[in-house]
Amino acid sequence: MARAGDISQFGDVFEPDEAQEPILARGMRDALQEWLEEIWAEADLAAVGISARRRALFDGKPGVGKTTLAHHLAARLGLPMLAVRPERVISKYVGETGERLGRLFDLASNADDPIVLFIDEFDALSRQRRRSEQASDDSRNEEVNTLLQRIEQHEGFIIAATNYGAHIDQAIWRRFDIHLTLELPGQRERELIVARYLAPFGLPADALRALGESLETASPALIRKLCEGLKRQFVLGPKLGYDMTRDATIARTLATIHPHPDVGKPRLWSHGENDSAVRALPWPIRRADEIAANAAPADGAPGAPDNVVRLR
Ligand SMILES: Nc1ncnc2c1ncn2[C@@H]1O[C@H](COP(=O)(O)OP(=O)(O)OP(=O)(O)O)[C@@H](O)[C@H]1O
Ligand SMILES: [Mg+2]
Repeated sequence: MARAGDISQFGDVFEPDEAQEPILARGMRDALQEWLEEIWAEADLAAVGISARRRALFDGKPGVGKTTLAHHLAARLGLPMLAVRPERVISKYVGETGERLGRLFDLASNADDPIVLFIDEFDALSRQRRRSEQASDDSRNEEVNTLLQRIEQHEGFIIAATNYGAHIDQAIWRRFDIHLTLELPGQRERELIVARYLAPFGLPADALRALGESLETASPALIRKLCEGLKRQFVLGPKLGYDMTRDATIARTLATIHPHPDVGKPRLWSHGENDSAVRALPWPIRRADEIAANAAPADGAPGAPDNVVRLR
């Protein structure tokens, strides 16, 4: 979609209708709901002399869903999101970065065309700032200060994300009025994430539970890759004449997917096709609708979509 002043020169525009609903633990869902209520209650807050908080810092390990959540929030506000591409803002020429930042924030402040600014890998900026000890670093420091000032003055929504919350320096930290730490998914969330990304295939409740347990410490991104890797095998394996037995298929799938070193290796990757969760997998894995036809899910079992943040 073309946007006034073409803010897209500074990054990628994510439209609201392309957002995905993240599967979140209850605490996080509640925190988000509270923030959204606050934003929707803007007028009531203004009447008592305060405004809704608009600057959030998301902290969480790789693949835990920071970008997904920011996009989803923007969508719930009915706004597109600009995921800023640092290389399109940062220039090696003195003064140019500051100028670009100015243009970016001016465009993002256009009240006729509001947009949520999403700034990923925010920690990189903070590190740059800390390392600036010599005179030659002054212009870089200056640029970071400009960025911080613009963030502070900005009237629209800004979400910054970092994988290293603990390393963010205080000057940056206090520019944000909401800090959310995204944790790795728990057992229930893992089951829901498997069910979502394995669809249209499905697993009976006990196999799903076992698989969820074997994925402890996995990020949503890793679980998604595993499920999509399996589905790819189901479709392409027979065409390629591969061995489609359970152990061979699981071993092939796991071999191509590597857990991020910062997140830790879930048990499934340590035990491979010998894992008890693999032993518990029905094979071939059937379609979810066939399983549902045979057994209605128990109360509270995955499949009940109450754990998903709904778009209004
Ligand atoms: N809570 C979630 N529910 C369902 N899917 C999720 C969830 N979080 C992440 N995903 C999926 O995992 C993948 C990675 O998510 P995302 O890019 O949002 O993570 P990130 O924290 O921004 O990662 P990075 O640190 O690498 O930027 C996406 O494909 C997304 O669909
Ligand atoms: Mg991201």
